[in-house]
Amino acid sequence: MILRITKHGEPVLKKPAPPVDFDAVKNELPRLLGDMWATMYAARGVGLSAQQVGLVLRLSIIDVKPEGKPERLVLLNPEILSREGLVIEEEGCLSIPGLYRKTRRYSRVRIRALDENGQPWERTGTGLLARAFQHEVDHLDGKLFIDQFTLDQRLEVAAALKELKKTWL
Ligand code: NI
Repeated sequence: MILRITKHGEPVLKKPAPPVDFDAVKNELPRLLGDMWATMYAARGVGLSAQQVGLVLRLSIIDVKPEGKPERLVLLNPEILSREGLVIEEEGCLSIPGLYRKTRRYSRVRIRALDENGQPWERTGTGLLARAFQHEVDHLDGKLFIDQFTLDQRLEVAAALKELKKTWL
């Protein structure tokens, strides 16, 4: 089932999600993940977090190759283990549709999380994958990519958002 994606300004996007016990969520995970994948692909995104479907849960999904070979990553209770290098690239978010801005991120990030079976995995991401790791962990901490902007950037974004919000459902 395709779920509605929450938008900038909705309180759930500001709510940090604490780590969860896998056993407490394992029964609902398959259906929830199925819905999240369907929702993310329908919106042509490369990542989606639980807050974006209205849930405060420490769960994200990522597939940075939506056009090519899919590589589905499930991130339950993700933790960033190390980060290095800096890169500034354009970034967007399904919860702020239509807004893309240059955003500073670490270029190489190692992450640890549980998969859909509760098994731990670790991976070092670079490029878009490193960006997605940081973007989705931010969602789980109640942050959007524009929250790290300077005051000047935020004023500019606020003006753009005022117009964009008229087009959001
Ligand atoms: Ni996002």
